[in-house]
Amino acid sequence: MTSVARSKSLNIVLGVSGGIAAYKVASILRLLTEAGHNVQVVPTQAALNFVGSATWEALSGNPLISEVWDDVADVPHVRIGQSADLVLVAPATADLLSRAANGAANDLLTNVLLTATCPIVYAPAMHTEMWLNAATQENVATLRSRGCIVIDPAEGRLTGDDSGPGRLPDPEEIVSVAMGVLSEQDLLGLDIVITAGGTREFLDPVRFLGNSSSGKQGVALAVTARDRGAKVTLICANISVPLPAGVTVVSAVTGDDVHAAVMQASQAADVIVMAAAIADYKPKVTQNSKMKKSDDGSSPTIELVRTVDILADLVSHRNTSHPDQVIVGFAAETGDDRGSVLDHGIAKLQRKGCDLLVINEVGPNLAFGTDDNEVTILTREPATQTKVSKTSKNQIAQAIWDAVSAIRH
Ligand code: CTP
Repeated sequence: MTSVARSKSLNIVLGVSGGIAAYKVASILRLLTEAGHNVQVVPTQAALNFVGSATWEALSGNPLISEVWDDVADVPHVRIGQSADLVLVAPATADLLSRAANGAANDLLTNVLLTATCPIVYAPAMHTEMWLNAATQENVATLRSRGCIVIDPAEGRLTGDDSGPGRLPDPEEIVSVAMGVLSEQDLLGLDIVITAGGTREFLDPVRFLGNSSSGKQGVALAVTARDRGAKVTLICANISVPLPAGVTVVSAVTGDDVHAAVMQASQAADVIVMAAAIADYKPKVTQNSKMKKSDDGSSPTIELVRTVDILADLVSHRNTSHPDQVIVGFAAETGDDRGSVLDHGIAKLQRKGCDLLVINEVGPNLAFGTDDNEVTILTREPATQTKVSKTSKNQIAQAIWDAVSAIRH
């Protein structure tokens, strides 16, 4: 592992201001401590009306400090900010954003924000009107102009019946953005296109030939590339996992949709990763209306035709118009009497002409839809093999980006 955030235990200050979304921040705290970080929670007095000190102390394992007058001999209003590797404020209310933008120092959390020299990430949550108000938007712009990260709130149901932008994004999303701020930015400025999920080829309006790819690995690639500084376009074919923030999403259903979207996005791409499971065949004819069973009990014969090999098309375009482009293929393989999974992978890398091939063994409970995976990453020039033992799809994604970075250098 190469980046600080992926390997080291960090001192993180979790600032909590007084909004109802404070209850969701207990999950953020859990995610951070489970990742091995030391978290000091600094709630405002208003935040303690929503979630009490016992919750923060129990989940962080640290005594709570919420007032400048707590533990004065230790000078907490200076020490906490100075020793932090990261300050994350969630939820950041309109009032907290205003005080932070104006450099107020009227409680412990704002003192910490003034003394911190590390990255500061705000995750605002409030009613839509408050978020869209010009005063709040100006405060957000001010904080961003000073180098702070302000995550856009999610859209959806708010405290009452109303809905709109203002919801606190999912805890996983906030943690991912916050940790991404500390990640090594070795993909900074790269334009990366990733396909995810599995295509569907329709027999009629309701039936299709498809596969059980969930899109988890493609989404993990998108999130980790974003965190390492890339500008990501994620082409999603029928994925069953939530879409990540901070990437451009293009929806696709069939192989032809993916093909069109990839060829367009690939014009400017530095790296393209074909993580989607693309059907090799499609019905020659798609019926306009639902196919009925025949009266005589006979079974239909469905004629299939080959789909476009998108990876091959990318490779041939790369050769003529974008020689530096790095193209990554995936190979879902099973061993058989003609060779092992690795043998088939090595042959496929040569046949496909891509720069890197990620081989994973597929079968019942292997790879598709699972949270963990085990892969071998092959590169063509120079020819290397890197085995990544069973680990999370995020860690697999990090290993793939490490290999892409190595090829580019
Ligand atoms: N792929 C593609 N277009 C297709 C089929 C596959 O771009 N019509 C891409 C996949 O996204 C993957 C790679 O090719 O990155 C390998 O896919 P795989 O199904 O393992 O290989 P195939 O080329 O279909 O070969 P085979 O099924 O014969 O092993």
